[in-house]
Amino acid sequence: NDLYAVVGNPISHSKSPRIHSLFAAQTGEPVEYTAIQAPLEEFDETVRDFFAKGGKGLNVTVPFKEQAWNMADRRSERAAKAGAGNTLYQDADGRLVADNTDGVGLVTDLTRSAGVSLAGKRLLILGAGGAVRGVLGPILAQRPGELVIANRTVSKAEALVALFADEAGDTLLSAIGFTDVTGGFDITINGTSASLQGDLPPVTTDAVTPATVVYDMMYTPGVTTFNRWALDNGAGKVLDGLGMLVEQAAESFYIWRGVRPETGPVMDELRNN
Ligand code: ATR
Repeated sequence: NDLYAVVGNPISHSKSPRIHSLFAAQTGEPVEYTAIQAPLEEFDETVRDFFAKGGKGLNVTVPFKEQAWNMADRRSERAAKAGAGNTLYQDADGRLVADNTDGVGLVTDLTRSAGVSLAGKRLLILGAGGAVRGVLGPILAQRPGELVIANRTVSKAEALVALFADEAGDTLLSAIGFTDVTGGFDITINGTSASLQGDLPPVTTDAVTPATVVYDMMYTPGVTTFNRWALDNGAGKVLDGLGMLVEQAAESFYIWRGVRPETGPVMDELRNN
């Protein structure tokens, strides 16, 4: 079997080994996929060692995505702009390539699960850290009518607006603080890490209306903290990050194997067990 793994710290709760094993079983690809906890100071060594021993590809998760991007010899266009890599492999010349499938994963899941295209829609995204930067390119490529980035630290949202200005095209792209959010969004995405501290981003309830599809990039069993808040404040529909997790994995699998697994059955399996 060809060897793949996800690298992170901590890693024991990662769902990637399960997801990729389900993909392998479904497609018949000879893929063996494990989890590796890299010591915080030894990410590069862990990666080089894995490929030196014949490993074929890695997924990278918290807190190493920027490091993966830094150590790569080459970056895909979408990874270059994202400033982070979640997928590593070697090209025919043995050079380490970083790609980023998070944004495509989010867009694919949002389009599929919410049943709407993003084109022309009004989008609000909460947060302006690495996770948000990683998905802005693929979101803008869908040509939403408007994209508002709201963050606790407004200057970080403004920096992202500047960074992605050339990709915005006709999309109205702007940065604001949480308390300046006023209503009417078709889709509101939570990309903050607030829930890791048991917090909610202190955004106005205008962020969610009965017509808003709410998408939390986080995934926790049951309803996420943010989606619970959204439902309590009248959101029409809430989705969590499980779909994004499976879709980004499918895109990585495709990069490595040239085969696209079916994601629906895998999502059902993870959701129900
Ligand atoms: P990640 O890789 O998860 O994006 P990050 O780059 O540290 O991690 O970014 C975390 C994001 O969550 C930021 O937008 C951060 O807001 P600031 O830029 O103001 O720091 C946001 N965030 C984290 N904890 C938060 C909290 N308790 N309330 C609101 N926003 C929070």
